[in-house]
Amino acid sequence: MAYVVCEPCNDCKYTDCVAVCPCDCFYQDDAQLYIDPNPCIDCDACKSECPVEAIFPDIAVPAQWGHFIALNAERVRALQGGGHITERQPAKMGPGCRQPR
Ligand code: SF4
Ligand code: F3S
Repeated sequence: MAYVVCEPCNDCKYTDCVAVCPCDCFYQDDAQLYIDPNPCIDCDACKSECPVEAIFPDIAVPAQWGHFIALNAERVRALQGGGHITERQPAKMGPGCRQPR
């Protein structure tokens, strides 16, 4: 099992999740963040930190975002060359970012 970043992160990238992860699981591209499923220990710390509720355990990912499970793993592999993010950064909050709940 692992946690998964889904569609609501797209263009938001608040990065509150990164600040609480004990295992440095997060990677990013311009669009959003992704969780590396291998180091993730399912600690649940990141889920409640996200202002737009983008993070779910893989067994609880909403059906319309099911493809994000494979996408997180794929993008982490592709981003090994420089996409690792281990500290909070200013939120992107681009035009595609929904408002926090
Ligand atoms: Fe990191 Fe815990 Fe979230 Fe996994 S569940 S990504 S270990 S904060
Ligand atoms: Fe994205 Fe939410 Fe983290 S918007 S960067 S998953 S805090």
